Amino acid sequence: MALVLVLLLFVLVSSPPRAASARDTISPGETLGGSDELVSSNGKYKLGFFQTGSESPGNASSYWYLGIWINRVPTMTPVWVANGDDPIADLTAAVLTISPDGNLVVLNPVAGSIIWSTQANITTNNTMATLSDGGNLMLQKSLDPSDVLWQSFNHPTSSLLPGAKLGRDKVTGLNRRLVSRKNSVDQAPGAYSLELDPSGAAQFILVELNSGVTYWSSGVWNGRFFNSIPDMGAYSEFVNSSREVCLITPMDDANVVTRLSLEVSGQIKSFIWYEQLQDWVTSAVQPKSQCDVYALCGPHTVCNDNVIPSCNCMKGFSIKSLKDWELEDRTGGCIRNNPLDCSCNKTTGSTDGFYSIPCFRLPQNAQNTTGVLSEGECAQVCLSDCSCTAYSFGDYGCYVWHDELLNVKDQQYSDLTSTKVEILKVRLAAKELIRWENHRREMLVWVVTCATVALFGLVLLLMIWRNQKKQYFCTFNNVQGGNGIVAFRYTDLKHATKCFSIKLGSGGFGSVYKGILADSTAIAVKMLDGFRQGEKQFRAEVSSIGIIQHVNLVKLIGFCCEGDKRLLVYEYLPYHSLDAHLFQRSVTFLNWKTRYQVALGVARGLAYLHESCREYIIHCDIKPQNILLDASFTPKIADFGMAKFMQRDFSRALTTMRGTIGYLAPEWLSGVAITTKIDVYSYGMVLLEIISGRRNTSELCSSCADDNDVYFPLQVANGILKGDVQGLVDPKLRGDVNLEEVERVCKIACWCIQDKDSDRPAMGEVVQILEGLREVDVPPIPKILQAVAESPH
Ligand SMILES: *[C@@H]1O[C@H](CO)[C@@H](O)[C@H](O)[C@H]1NC(C)=O
Ligand SMILES: *[C@@H]1O[C@H](CO)[C@@H](O)[C@H](O)[C@H]1NC(C)=O
Ligand SMILES: *[C@@H]1O[C@H](CO)[C@@H](O)[C@H](O)[C@H]1NC(C)=O
Ligand SMILES: *[C@@H]1O[C@H](CO)[C@@H](O)[C@H](O)[C@H]1NC(C)=O
Ligand SMILES: *[C@@H]1O[C@H](CO)[C@@H](O)[C@H](O)[C@H]1NC(C)=O
Ligand SMILES: *[C@@H]1O[C@H](CO)[C@@H](O)[C@H](O)[C@H]1NC(C)=O
Repeated sequence: MALVLVLLLFVLVSSPPRAASARDTISPGETLGGSDELVSSNGKYKLGFFQTGSESPGNASSYWYLGIWINRVPTMTPVWVANGDDPIADLTAAVLTISPDGNLVVLNPVAGSIIWSTQANITTNNTMATLSDGGNLMLQKSLDPSDVLWQSFNHPTSSLLPGAKLGRDKVTGLNRRLVSRKNSVDQAPGAYSLELDPSGAAQFILVELNSGVTYWSSGVWNGRFFNSIPDMGAYSEFVNSSREVCLITPMDDANVVTRLSLEVSGQIKSFIWYEQLQDWVTSAVQPKSQCDVYALCGPHTVCNDNVIPSCNCMKGFSIKSLKDWELEDRTGGCIRNNPLDCSCNKTTGSTDGFYSIPCFRLPQNAQNTTGVLSEGECAQVCLSDCSCTAYSFGDYGCYVWHDELLNVKDQQYSDLTSTKVEILKVRLAAKELIRWENHRREMLVWVVTCATVALFGLVLLLMIWRNQKKQYFCTFNNVQGGNGIVAFRYTDLKHATKCFSIKLGSGGFGSVYKGILADSTAIAVKMLDGFRQGEKQFRAEVSSIGIIQHVNLVKLIGFCCEGDKRLLVYEYLPYHSLDAHLFQRSVTFLNWKTRYQVALGVARGLAYLHESCREYIIHCDIKPQNILLDASFTPKIADFGMAKFMQRDFSRALTTMRGTIGYLAPEWLSGVAITTKIDVYSYGMVLLEIISGRRNTSELCSSCADDNDVYFPLQVANGILKGDVQGLVDPKLRGDVNLEEVERVCKIACWCIQDKDSDRPAMGEVVQILEGLREVDVPPIPKILQAVAESPH
């Protein structure tokens, strides 16, 4: 050992400081220090020491790892890590070299200790290590490089590169699997693995490693693809030979940069690097729903796919480790604020009570009790056992849970008819419940006050209501898996649109043309002219809208970014927009039921934009012309040309005025910073048009001046106060409406067009009201409406 040390020091001292030279091989006697790198001969991959989380809080900034990353992309993207669970604190005390036993090792030359080793069972010390063009680090015999003694492809971490295998080598018994990382900074193995099904079925499964629970499977290989993921199969092959049973991914294509990774979130994602965007775009994700990842949020949480973050503590619990939580590792979950009463006084019983959580999926490991016939009895069963933390009583009888409540999923309303909501009763200390009761009593007082001081009271009530909502916010579902978006060449789009000959429409930001792709997909191509928003904005739009997909949003298929040309390619919907249906007599007439569904769909689409994306999006131009209806009258919000993208940390933005007269929120005029509530305002205006079947703006309505000439939004506000909404409904419906729904929609519309943005509800709340899950109060009359009504027009 001493000899080695001397030798190493000699090497370190004698070799002049090298610039990071482009070599791909390390031979005996050579070392690779802190800033040195191996570069694959095609330049695509690099091996070296990298640091994670320099921007993150705490100690993490001193973590260094030996690993492989993709050299082609400017974003640091590690694809393999050697010393994941043993990070190097001091980079000056680490070198990569071939040890005397022939293994590739990371040494601490000062202490003489080995930090990491390939630990291959080899008999020669005449070896060398090479980083291949495919990103595989191989330890080879110097005399016979085809004899590979160890390779990083056999010991993958969380990423699978093209050309690598996943599965078992029957000869050596080696089982290659992916293991997620602990969090975005700590590269230690995390909670999830992707591996060959150990039961022998020809499929891969995702496993939560602590519990051993399988939460997703690829479906069995049918010769062409895995049954549950037909879209992924075309690229890979499942092999079961005498030597191995594994998935073989296609060889690396030098021109395409892709990777597949098991994320901290427990989802498998495949990514493609878009040169034009200079960013990674998710091309596929499994499981599609984040909350389907087992125990993602840890104990005592509720998972909801439609809010960010998806994990929230149950009432009466607080986040266990804020630091982990911030690094997106939420598996630690939440802990109780106040201990349970476990005195178990036989005469009085426990003083604890229960709090109801409606949920879509009850916690894991329920215990069945027999002979319990009522809910009260079921509660007693739980209270009489100190370790009981929750119960649920339903058609299935009485379930009780002990200790940790894991894997609870919030109720979702993707499909109202099939959703079965269970009520979970979570046991809480009396202290917690009293706090909550007080809160409720407060609300009651307010209700009484409101009755007398109607206008002010209502606003306050709305605020209380909003505060309360923060705990279990649930909206809708239907987040479809992201699919790759296509980078088109300008000439292809020119060809597809026959030189931009069929114009579908135009606006302040450009024109939209119809086109047909080579595979006969119909597209709508939007050419942004006078492109002033800047490169970054365009990228943000493409990378955000490309990944966000929702049944109520028009799908972005691709984009083109060549020279000063900026084009966006959307799916083409051959049907009319909402305004045609509402105002033109020649187009299919919408009955009340359909109108209600349209209102709900648009609200869901907007709630998704406002609340569910990494960056949130303000559409800025909600109006009937931008709401397309498909063949089944499902509304799809279109035209994101004016959209404003906002970081989650900011709730307001100053921006130039945009939108359409008649739907513009008053804060545009006063020049204050805008929020998502400007969309809420426009949505309220659209709702009014859906109810009345006529345009709000009176000048446009000169041809339909058969009714009285009071500004319609004001009529609605008055109608609600008088309790008469029937007269507001589109006469073409001939009274064939659900009055309760009409009243609800009128109230929502009026709340949405309140003068102050803080008085308007969030879109998620609107969805809940429309779904009938939440009550809505009588709104005050917006002052601006009165002003508009009084001004001559
Ligand atoms: C780093 O971690 C050590 C122990 O883990 C702790 O004592 C020290 O205070 C931490 N330093 C910072 C800056 O967080
Ligand atoms: C390889 O092993 C031999 C015998 O054990 C030893 O003499 C020689 O120095 C080693 N070579 C290197 C490069 O470590
Ligand atoms: C290492 O190789 C030797 C000889 O080939 C063999 O006997 C031994 O079992 C191997 N050890 C391991 C841990 O694979
Ligand atoms: C692979 O083939 C063997 C022998 O034909 C069979 O016993 C085994 O079940 C197969 N395994 C898988 C995962 O298909
Ligand atoms: C149980 O509660 C009753 C009534 O409050 C009280 O009188 C009794 O002392 C309690 N017993 C114990 C063991 O705490
Ligand atoms: C619970 O018990 C009831 C009655 O014994 C039985 O019908 C039901 O299937 C059981 N449920 C579970 C999940 O074991």
